[in-house]
Amino acid sequence: MAATLIIGASGTVGSELANLLEAGGHAVRRASSRVPTASDQVQLDLLHPQGQLAAAFEGVDRLFLLSPPGHVDQHVLLAPLIEQAKALGLKKVVLMSAMGADADDAAPLRQAELHLARSGLAWNVIRPNWFMQNFNTFWLQGIRQHGRIFLPVGRAKGSFIDARDIAAAAARLLHSHDLDNQAFDLTGAESLDHDEVAAILSRVAGRTITFEDITPEAMRAALVDAHLPPAYADFLVLILGFFKAGYAERTTDAVQRITGQAPRRFEAYAEDYRAAWV
Ligand SMILES: NC(=O)c1ccc[n+]([C@@H]2O[C@H](COP(=O)([O-])OP(=O)(O)OC[C@H]3O[C@@H](n4cnc5c(N)ncnc54)[C@H](OP(=O)(O)O)[C@@H]3O)[C@@H](O)[C@H]2O)c1
Repeated sequence: MAATLIIGASGTVGSELANLLEAGGHAVRRASSRVPTASDQVQLDLLHPQGQLAAAFEGVDRLFLLSPPGHVDQHVLLAPLIEQAKALGLKKVVLMSAMGADADDAAPLRQAELHLARSGLAWNVIRPNWFMQNFNTFWLQGIRQHGRIFLPVGRAKGSFIDARDIAAAAARLLHSHDLDNQAFDLTGAESLDHDEVAAILSRVAGRTITFEDITPEAMRAALVDAHLPPAYADFLVLILGFFKAGYAERTTDAVQRITGQAPRRFEAYAEDYRAAWV
């Protein structure tokens, strides 16, 4: 059986996607920048793909693409994989981009979207809003150590999406063709500000968690202190500014349309990940 090659297969969305596909009886090839430790894994370092592409794509007929966090030259990283998919005539390529990526055709992630759309392959682009899972990963340290969510986003609302719903949408799109050649903005069903998020996390975790609005400069300093590359820290501060300006508030019905299921609510996410914050 031909397999789906999953970039970022050990990550938040990719691991859910790989498990979903396997549970549905599909073969999966889990790509990693590291040396493989299991037979369904393959090494494909997007920073140095030369010499690894052919083996990674052998026996593959579908591809899930994302750009690893930490890099702002997303098109440079993804272009060789899109070209390889083209050369092999894969049946479907799904690229996970980000909501708002289509605002500027010159932006590197948008360039990757356009490259795929012009490839002649059957494709989908999914553009998720900010993940709910950021609260149990990127923003976790502030919550655990200080009981606070530190972000430069004011009282703006976001229609946070559960990564499991993104994975479900990707799984459905990879193995069907009725929705081919379209991009979808994926959001949750409700928009919450970070005071509302903190209130839900407090109730579920049984401890007080509050939101603290910080300056973009303080955010950037914290990200660089956490060893993020300065260019990526600048990128994150820029897109957090878009959140503050209200661009993350919109909701769409795309998850429901693609998967047939309503997206998970923040409360349900918090209950499922409760152990992270207690
Ligand atoms: N977080 C959000 O709120 C949000 C919102 C919208 C869009 N996004 C997009 O989501 C993507 C991240 O997805 P995620 O959160 O599921 O990922 P993640 O959990 O951060 O995992 C990143 C993955 O990338 C792999 N990786 C790292 N460096 C690599 C390299 N050089 N070559 C190949 N693979 C590499 C890692 O695997 P190995 O260590 O095994 O290589 C890991 O599986 C980004 O493109 C981001 O822009 C995020």
